[in-house]
Amino acid sequence: MSTADIRSVLRGGGDRFIYLTSALAALNGLLFGFDTGIISGAFLYINDTFTMSPLVEGIVMSGAMAGAALGAAVGGKLADRLGRRRLILLGAGVFFVGSLTMAIAPSVPVLVAGRLIDGVAIGFASIVGPLYISEIAPPRIRGALTSLNQLMVTVGILASYFVNYAFADAGAWRWMLGTGMIPAVILAVGMLKMPESPRWLFEHGRKDEAEAVLQRTRQGDVDEELEEIAETVSKQSGTGVRELLKPWLRPALIVGLGLAVFQQITGINAVIYYAPTILESTGFGSTTSILATVGIGVINVVMTVVAIALIDRVGRRLLLQVGIGGMVVTLGVLGTVFYLPGFGGALGWIATASLMLFVAFFAIGLGPVFWLLISEIYPLAVRGSAMGTVTVANWGANLLVSLTFPMLTAGVGKPSTFWLFGACSLVALLFTYRLVPETKGRSLEAIEADLRENIGTPTEAAD
Ligand code: BGC
Repeated sequence: MSTADIRSVLRGGGDRFIYLTSALAALNGLLFGFDTGIISGAFLYINDTFTMSPLVEGIVMSGAMAGAALGAAVGGKLADRLGRRRLILLGAGVFFVGSLTMAIAPSVPVLVAGRLIDGVAIGFASIVGPLYISEIAPPRIRGALTSLNQLMVTVGILASYFVNYAFADAGAWRWMLGTGMIPAVILAVGMLKMPESPRWLFEHGRKDEAEAVLQRTRQGDVDEELEEIAETVSKQSGTGVRELLKPWLRPALIVGLGLAVFQQITGINAVIYYAPTILESTGFGSTTSILATVGIGVINVVMTVVAIALIDRVGRRLLLQVGIGGMVVTLGVLGTVFYLPGFGGALGWIATASLMLFVAFFAIGLGPVFWLLISEIYPLAVRGSAMGTVTVANWGANLLVSLTFPMLTAGVGKPSTFWLFGACSLVALLFTYRLVPETKGRSLEAIEADLRENIGTPTEAAD
């Protein structure tokens, strides 16, 4: 294939520049995934350097999630005030400082401070990555481009497993944690050349710049899209949290908060963070468990790619329903396998296969679709704050599950814990079926217009 061919392929599927911009912004996802994944490996060796009580261990582990909740709480407002691009730049700086602080930490308090700083950056990244991409992408490929962010989350988690492995022999936990500085620098340098979101520019009275960005990122006429944005902006009544609580926004807020919590209380991070422990309990040795964990990471990446290929074709609702439906079944099987007497052998393999399928179903549905939908269903004026609010709920629920999972399995046992996740998935399925709207192929402005007309129930794509 000649360069001209490649160029025309890229043109046919969307503009090359928009792919580049989205891929760069998706490094936010990479940092999010890498920095949440790396600690599990680093942790094994930090203990050799510092003596930590179980409480302090817990604080080091969960410090990033608490920081992420904080980052999400302020990040949303900052995205509305500073602009999306400037927040990405700020976030990259905070990532760098956080990783550096952890890498050179001379004491536990400094290490905890580093984890918190890093967490704040993770919180920023979890909002602004999908937000920026969804606002700059053309509607027809918005789902796929925005989900690049989630793809990079899964790549980041997988990369963290490999980096952990690479530095494991040397026990070099400082290098593991410090590696996060590299993508932070690439993100910052790359974003310096990228434009601000056209929607944010327009809303802040910078219409000419907004038009210029649209022209640079679209192939055809941009007048219609500009008009739509202008109309939306003219209808805005206010910004901030008070606006968010207005009755017309309630359905969107319920959908966002519901999906945020369901994404976590259905147990994904119990698997992502504790996979080796769960696998060892199925009777595998530690090497096989670690290998199977890498397998889980790979499946997570591959199925996210499949979701990206489908998301703008079959729509968000179908992917969510198939994905969550599969989670219900696999969690049911997992609970049952752990419940049966005489664990090991064939049952061990069934448990492993169910764990992998569970991750596959998450990766095709709740994983990417949650982050995509929350970047689509909120009105421009409050988009940052709204995403901030639901993202805080997501990190809060994440913290709750990862802290309580060891206690739950010790208290009520593995079967009941997995059945509990399964029951939560069943409720999530009903919730999705009843309340989640379809946003495939529609402009962000059309989605907002629907909301104004009080359409909180599922709508079909107006292709
Ligand atoms: C979730 C994370 C999770 C990751 C796994 C994300 O969408 O928000 O909590 O660890 O997916 O791929």
